[in-house]
Amino acid sequence: MAGTVARDAFGEVDGQAVERWTLAHGDLRVAVMTYGAILLRLDAPGRDGEKANVVLGFPTLADYVAGNDPYFGAVAGRFANRITDGRFSLDGQDYQLTRNGGAHHLHGGARGFDKRVWAAAEATSGDGPAVRLVYRSPDDEEGYPGALDLTVTYTLTGDALRLDYEATTDAPTILNPTQHSYFNLAGEGSGDVLGHRLRLAAGRFVEVDAALSPTGRLAQVEGTPFDFRESRPIGGRIREAHPQIVIGRGYDHCFVFDRPASADRSILIGARVEEPGSGRVLDLRTDRPGVQFYTGGFLDATLVGSGGRVYRQGDGFCLETQTFPDAPNRPEFPSPVLRPGKTFRSRTEFAFSVSG
Ligand code: GAL
Repeated sequence: MAGTVARDAFGEVDGQAVERWTLAHGDLRVAVMTYGAILLRLDAPGRDGEKANVVLGFPTLADYVAGNDPYFGAVAGRFANRITDGRFSLDGQDYQLTRNGGAHHLHGGARGFDKRVWAAAEATSGDGPAVRLVYRSPDDEEGYPGALDLTVTYTLTGDALRLDYEATTDAPTILNPTQHSYFNLAGEGSGDVLGHRLRLAAGRFVEVDAALSPTGRLAQVEGTPFDFRESRPIGGRIREAHPQIVIGRGYDHCFVFDRPASADRSILIGARVEEPGSGRVLDLRTDRPGVQFYTGGFLDATLVGSGGRVYRQGDGFCLETQTFPDAPNRPEFPSPVLRPGKTFRSRTEFAFSVSG
């Protein structure tokens, strides 16, 4: 197999050892830790061959444990994004989840998957070096029904970082995991991403209220700052006084992929981001129905990043593949329900290349 896998000790959380796994293949190199299944760094070459770490993070494990409110690099779940009032019903049973995002449930609760120590093992894949991270979420954790077994495999294929999710449960439950990395293709800590060009294959997005909870309406992007169907700079319309831009402090919205019914659940290129200076290009490929495009509106210059620089609003963008927020309460949204005897399987890839 081409590529290499290395593992080293990365400290402890609550007496549990944390490991860091480093995968290298071709021109790409990533480091992932077992705390939160967090992607710590991703090095990719630019047009001139020079490598840069293109994901935001903290300098040390202690920084993540103390303050990963932004969810830098983490796998978020059981249900990433918001569930209104933290409530939902399933099979006639009412459930109350932790309300940790104002009145709402956010990213799996006070201690979601991003704040747990996962077990790790090298995975065998013909496509490149891989690490398999496993977490068992007990029944009632953060209020969720059913014990859930989740495996997330990070594979470095020749050109992409691939995430494969696989989960089973012992009772009916809901699941919507995502990868929450903040990218800056000019290099972490180098400034804002407003000059990056984005193409997003989405004609609609989930409209939200002032508390970022879905109104239930899927708004058309046509004629709004949300229209990225043709490639254009992220910052081009980010200062327009559109009510949804104001609520999101920029972009903080779930976009609905345009997907022919025949391509339901198959993998497609959902987004392309290009950084003109370095030439780095990121292609997002996924089988998920939507993606939260977030421009880091809550980064308020109070966090020091892995490279020793302060992060400000707009210094990174997230492309969090998922079903839509509040889906447990909205039968018209793609269902997040997982039942015993069924296996949840999903794939998202972040592919890297350079443009001339
Ligand atoms: C995003 C979410 C934002 C914010 C952020 C973490 O996924 O959409 O509203 O909560 O995570 O700071």
